[in-house]
Amino acid sequence: MPAVALGTWAWGDSGQPGDGYFGSRLSESGLREVVEKAQSNGFTLWDTAVAYGMGRSETVLAQALAGYDRSEYKLSTKFTPQIAGDGDDPVADMLEQSLDRMGTDYVDLFWIHNAADVARWTPPLIPLLGSGKIKHVGVSNHNMEEIALADRILGEAGFRVEAVQNHFSLLYRGSERAGILDYCREHDVRFFSYMVLEQGALTGRYNPANPLPEGSSRAAVYNGILHRLQALTDRMGAIGEDRGASAADVATAWAIAKGTTPIIGVTKAGYIDGLVRARGIELADAEIAELEALADAADVDTRGWWEHEM
Ligand SMILES: NC(=O)c1ccc[n+]([C@@H]2O[C@H](COP(=O)([O-])OP(=O)(O)OC[C@H]3O[C@@H](n4cnc5c(N)ncnc54)[C@H](OP(=O)(O)O)[C@@H]3O)[C@@H](O)[C@H]2O)c1
Repeated sequence: MPAVALGTWAWGDSGQPGDGYFGSRLSESGLREVVEKAQSNGFTLWDTAVAYGMGRSETVLAQALAGYDRSEYKLSTKFTPQIAGDGDDPVADMLEQSLDRMGTDYVDLFWIHNAADVARWTPPLIPLLGSGKIKHVGVSNHNMEEIALADRILGEAGFRVEAVQNHFSLLYRGSERAGILDYCREHDVRFFSYMVLEQGALTGRYNPANPLPEGSSRAAVYNGILHRLQALTDRMGAIGEDRGASAADVATAWAIAKGTTPIIGVTKAGYIDGLVRARGIELADAEIAELEALADAADVDTRGWWEHEM
């Protein structure tokens, strides 16, 4: 399992500012470059979801992976209860559509995207595990109680929750405070941290003078708080500089140091170099403590609109 997984939410955007969550300008050839560089550096786990551009991210990802043997990469996608269909088995239906879009007959890691009604949405995973259409199951945006309930339901059929995927960054450490990181460590459950870079706000690349793309949803969330992140991102940059790395690499290295597998949203091939660097950075305990103190001092709440309190 790679030390870092790659996220493709932004790949579902149209690429036009004002008409997408990220407002990034992505091209087919650029994403192919991302895939080639990632794959050749051992980053072979790709995270997507139907909800990212209503299937567009899955489609674009499959196009970018064309030509690779299915055994050379792993796919992680999600069932999103909030957009479930009204058929007899909405979970199986949504999976089937994902498989179609991605041109495959199985996914390596299948997630319940958000905790809606755990008792309702967990059992339909059991026959999908049994048939081999999904190899492993994880839950995302579930709190401790919801994780335990999902695990109990799967446990009765001889399966288990093997992974948890939650928002976890220097600025947003709810899963650590709620004991979810400890639970995962103790139960051999892999914790995947998402939005480790706070959608670009923690990369040092964006600041009040150079804000996130005008008109994008992420700009609406972060541009107003960029000035409060400056002390943190400056320090991340300085820590990185000593190691020939960037602030973004330090954010990723921090998430690895916390025992998590970061899912980093990659939009440019050059960002893969950062992941290679991050994989090799060992942060000292004092550096981790200093960064977390600066993050706390920024006093911002970056909880996504889709998340509930951990
Ligand atoms: N389960 C869930 O509910 C959930 C929710 C959110 C995300 N996720 C998953 O987690 C993934 C990661 O989250 P995210 O994509 O929202 O945000 P993220 O990883 O925090 O940030 C991604 C953005 O950071 C910038 N970036 C990435 N690498 C960089 C580097 N090395 N140097 C400088 N900038 C860099 C890019 O912005 P520019 O393009 O502007 O350069 C990119 O769009 C998603 O793609 C998705 O797979 C899951």
